[in-house]
Amino acid sequence: MSAKQYIDENRQKFLDELIDLLRIPSVSADSKFKDDVHRAADFVKSSLEKAGIDKAEICETAGYPIVYGEKIIDPSLPTVLVYGHYDVQPPDPYELWDSPPFEPVIKNDKIYARGACDDKGQMFMHVKAFETMMATDSLSCNIKFMIEGEEEVGSDNLGIFVKNNKEKLAADVILVSDTAMISLDTPSITTGLRGLSYLEVEVVGPNRDLHSGVYGGAVANPINVLCEMIESLKDENNHITIPGFYDNVQELTEEERKAINKAAFDLEAYKKDLDINDVNGEKGYTSIERTGIRPSLDVNGIWGGYIGEGAKTVLPSKANAKISMRLVPNQSSEEITKLFSDHFKRIAPDSVKVKVTPHHGGEPAVTPIDSVAYAAASDAFEEAWGKRPIPTRDGGSIPIVALFKEELGLDTLLMGFGLDSDAIHSPNEHYGVTNYFKGIETISLFYKHFAKLSK
Ligand code: BES
Ligand code: MN
Ligand code: MN
Repeated sequence: MSAKQYIDENRQKFLDELIDLLRIPSVSADSKFKDDVHRAADFVKSSLEKAGIDKAEICETAGYPIVYGEKIIDPSLPTVLVYGHYDVQPPDPYELWDSPPFEPVIKNDKIYARGACDDKGQMFMHVKAFETMMATDSLSCNIKFMIEGEEEVGSDNLGIFVKNNKEKLAADVILVSDTAMISLDTPSITTGLRGLSYLEVEVVGPNRDLHSGVYGGAVANPINVLCEMIESLKDENNHITIPGFYDNVQELTEEERKAINKAAFDLEAYKKDLDINDVNGEKGYTSIERTGIRPSLDVNGIWGGYIGEGAKTVLPSKANAKISMRLVPNQSSEEITKLFSDHFKRIAPDSVKVKVTPHHGGEPAVTPIDSVAYAAASDAFEEAWGKRPIPTRDGGSIPIVALFKEELGLDTLLMGFGLDSDAIHSPNEHYGVTNYFKGIETISLFYKHFAKLSK
């Protein structure tokens, strides 16, 4: 039986199993889901076992475990290390979901659930592709799985695991499905990810909340000050004003920029999907460039003062915000965090005190298009989709990719099958049933072509 036939015959089973995994609320950020996160790890381990893995283990860490598995069929064949994550983002706000986030439903050929695309649906395609190759006796490479449960909270323990297990993780390439493709009509392979600096700031004014009539106009209001400070971080061209911020940004040649903008981008559909009248960003760059090759700065949350019912005339003592910056080669997360921190303290007026607390970060990554793995992936896409994929740079971050290169010396192939419109991290996250099955097929074909081209 061919791989394609096996996939077709097992459609319902493959869907039911994914739905069982999606029912587990494995939210890594919130400790009230601790048992569920562990349950998701066990689920992944037993799916690998049922699919025919030789060795599967739960590797404990200081946080959530890493599921490791391997099938070595012949040491002289190439080895593919599959990475993915079984943890998901918090589903909040619950009330904006049309159906409960952990009660998956299929509507209009899409599976709705938290983690449907990011990353359970995409990670599970690899387990099913492995099962398919085992069942059809067509596995042509050695395969290792490393599936973690802390991607959405920074992958700190995975970093330690990788550093301590270099021999165990020896491979020829790392294969990841945790990114997006352009569209079902235009398959693509991600060749770049942005890095991340994430900080929290606090602006403190008077030592207590004040009556806004008695003191208003005479004492600095930390919320007003915080807003002014944030406003000053970008100029009228949406250029970030932090001194030195762009110093290490790799500028692309006109030719490279042209190539990036060749990818089909439907601005009208983009605006319609988001229900916005216009896009916004750094002057002189297209939307594709703004998320692919340019850094950005956004406030992720802001709070302070009175937000209860009715009105309370108060001049608050404090204001806070969470701020993230997406980075591109060759910016360094640590450097940018320091530049921001120094700048933010410098621009604070004397009327307030400012505290800056760094959170997790990660380095940007670029992956090669002249590798055997990239060629094999292109062939796999061509066979499954009838089109060769286009290289694209994604705006999101997977910090472990840069670390794989640094610690293991390995390039990652980012073979993502999500769509930007899948609402990852948002209410009503979903994943196309077509993407799921085509993904399983493409992944199975990747192994065939990778073995062939590696000879
Ligand atoms: N899978 C995403 C990253 C992603 C999404 C890359 C879409 C490319 C396209 C990943 O799970 C994620 O959400 N990463 C976080 C970073 C992490 C340190 C919390 C992110 O990008 O915010
Ligand atoms: Mn992900
Ligand atoms: Mn995510």
